[in-house]
Amino acid sequence: MKIVGICGSPRKNGNSEILLDEFLKYFEGKAEIEKIFLNKLRFVPCQECENIRKDGRCKINDDMQNVYDKIESSDIVIVASPIFFGSISAQTKMMIDRFQCQWLGIKIFKTFKPKRKRGIFISVEASEKDEFIENAKSIIKNFFATIGASYFDDVICKGVDEKGKVKEKIECFEKIKKIYEKIMEV
Ligand SMILES: Cc1cc2nc3c(=O)[nH]c(=O)nc-3n(C[C@H](O)[C@H](O)[C@H](O)COP(=O)(O)O)c2cc1C
Repeated sequence: MKIVGICGSPRKNGNSEILLDEFLKYFEGKAEIEKIFLNKLRFVPCQECENIRKDGRCKINDDMQNVYDKIESSDIVIVASPIFFGSISAQTKMMIDRFQCQWLGIKIFKTFKPKRKRGIFISVEASEKDEFIENAKSIIKNFFATIGASYFDDVICKGVDEKGKVKEKIECFEKIKKIYEKIMEV
């Protein structure tokens, strides 16, 4: 089993990363684990290129090429993003937009078929606003559908702002354990 965890927060050891790491810890010794910290990568936003590649890959040769490889070869994709201005972080959205080539390969050119996988979304926000979370979820669901991932489950942690605050939210850690157990029994 291959699992890739993508952190979309710019904050090292922030709330998103803490939950992501907790998740990945369960798979140590049981799966091949890859972790991507988007803020450390060098990549540009989607350029809406003409004459694009038709194999589900973007022709821009930057750090996204590695991200395509890791996601496509995985069985489980975990995306962890904080809520920024009512949506996912810019880092996460920038990565997602770069999958437009894949969407075109599947839907328009019919030259690409992603491997089936499972997707899990982790999100944290300072407020308790459901509409922000719902907004973020709808973008992630769209992304998961494009990469061939079913929306397996999510961990949503509201009311956390300062770095590390998420550690007080026992219920979020319990949810991670539950999802892990659900994955292992399927
Ligand atoms: C640029 C920016 C925008 C934010 N916008 C929101 C927001 O719209 N709603 C909210 O509840 N929290 C918002 N927050 C708070 C973060 O979601 C919160 O601090 C979160 O715990 C950060 O997660 P991290 O430690 O993984 O980066 C914002 C924070 C930043 C830096």
